Amino acid sequence: MNRAWSWVAISLIVSIVSTIALFVLYALRVSRYADVALLAVALGSFAVALGAWGKYLLPDEAVVEDRPPEPSPPSEREAAQEAFVGGKDEITRRLVLSSLLATGAGALGLAALLPLRSLGPRPGTALFHTHWRHGARLVRDDGRAIRSDELEVGSVATVFPEGYVGDADAQAMLVRVRPDLLRLSPQRLAWAPLGYVAYSKVCTHVGCPVALYRQSTHELRCPCHQSTFDVLRGAAPVSGPAPRPLPQLPLTVGRDGFLRARGDFPEPIGPSFWTRA
Ligand code: FES
Repeated sequence: MNRAWSWVAISLIVSIVSTIALFVLYALRVSRYADVALLAVALGSFAVALGAWGKYLLPDEAVVEDRPPEPSPPSEREAAQEAFVGGKDEITRRLVLSSLLATGAGALGLAALLPLRSLGPRPGTALFHTHWRHGARLVRDDGRAIRSDELEVGSVATVFPEGYVGDADAQAMLVRVRPDLLRLSPQRLAWAPLGYVAYSKVCTHVGCPVALYRQSTHELRCPCHQSTFDVLRGAAPVSGPAPRPLPQLPLTVGRDGFLRARGDFPEPIGPSFWTRA
């Protein structure tokens, strides 16, 4: 019994120490492998302790005793008192084990909350804005700024705000069409100088890049589920599952002849998460 007691106590102590080490290493971001190893040791040793406790420390025989007449005779009461005093060590042991068990279980419970810290920072308003700003030049994926006379009618280019090449949220499709073909509201027409229109490249269905342009029909197409957008009509969806137009980037031509943004997209890019209840 004493040996079993020791093994249970040692297993619980190992579990507690491993869990504390897990907290420290997780906070210091030392290594995810070390975190996993420590968690395995903590859970394993806790399980061993519980198993050993149940198997060796708890009585497993059924005991039946006839109820004696009350009160007990003095001789029996004296015997019970002696047994109680003589069993003090046993009581102390059980108290120590119970405390270790409660500490180990509490530490493991707290460890279960650690993944919450791995969820990363809150997005805040980041989902509602991109890096497009008033005056930002449109650049290609090699960082080269685009002049207003650079693209032929019928040409397309993927563009980013200067300084944010490769930014997945800010990427846009720049298309040049004949200005007289555009069917936009007066305000949106002012965003399309010299027939240049730019639309978010993030599909409003589930966010794939809208990378295909069909010049003959002036349509942008998403390769994922074949949504098609009418470039002349504000990238309104004409077929496929996309529920709304691609947001249009307001453009202007700077005094230096480079294409520049007038500001950010007028609405959030991508799937319409913000309209959901
Ligand atoms: S993500 Fe574009 S159509 Fe589905």
